[in-house]
Amino acid sequence: MAEGEGAVARVFVSSHPVVLQKLTELRDRRTGSPRFRALVRELSWLLAYEALADTRTAVTAVETPVASAVGHTLADQIGLVPILRAGIGMAEAVLELLPSAPVWHLGMYRDEQTLEPVPYYNRLPPDPSVDLALVLDPMLATGGSARAAISILKRWGVPRIKFVGLIAAPEGVDAVAREHPDVPIHVAAVDERLNVHGFIVPGLGDAGDRQFCTG
Ligand code: PRP
Repeated sequence: MAEGEGAVARVFVSSHPVVLQKLTELRDRRTGSPRFRALVRELSWLLAYEALADTRTAVTAVETPVASAVGHTLADQIGLVPILRAGIGMAEAVLELLPSAPVWHLGMYRDEQTLEPVPYYNRLPPDPSVDLALVLDPMLATGGSARAAISILKRWGVPRIKFVGLIAAPEGVDAVAREHPDVPIHVAAVDERLNVHGFIVPGLGDAGDRQFCTG
């Protein structure tokens, strides 16, 4: 890929009809917190399912009540890295797909004036024990939080990283792709733009506030 062209090469926008329908309901200003949380959970399953499609497997044997069968286990160790606080709902959902996955929370909020990420929680152990980390955050706005989280994981030594979100702005996608062109981005939609306050337009508002009823 030529220099400057990396911004969209690794972005996977789901076109699944069920994702599209749920995303529409998620965006709707009339959707209250209980339903919003349920939709975050259901969309997170679906997007993580797509993001994990290239996970390596190992062949194993399984005894059914009738006979022996060829089975599979996941060969990749996968860890989840939700960005607090909006990523919490996504992590709980993906844990239903990968119940034994370790979860490392990264606390980061966006300064409302500068829009720069402010890290406030990080308790990563000395060594990463996974082949792949999924960074989970519903919103990719300026991309500052995702870029910072991915940089932390790279410095920590995680071999492969994917970002899984719900909605992105083109500005955030570009920013992540330029700094981390090796990191695929899986989302349900890339919207039109950011507004002057750094909100995704049309977006869905503030995913943290809408999940936790703090808006
Ligand atoms: C939101 C969102 C992302 C970040 C995205 O978090 O959940 O973490 O902003 O913006 P960026 O791409 O410009 O960095 P917020 O700062 O509102 O914190 P919260 O999750 O605690 O509500």
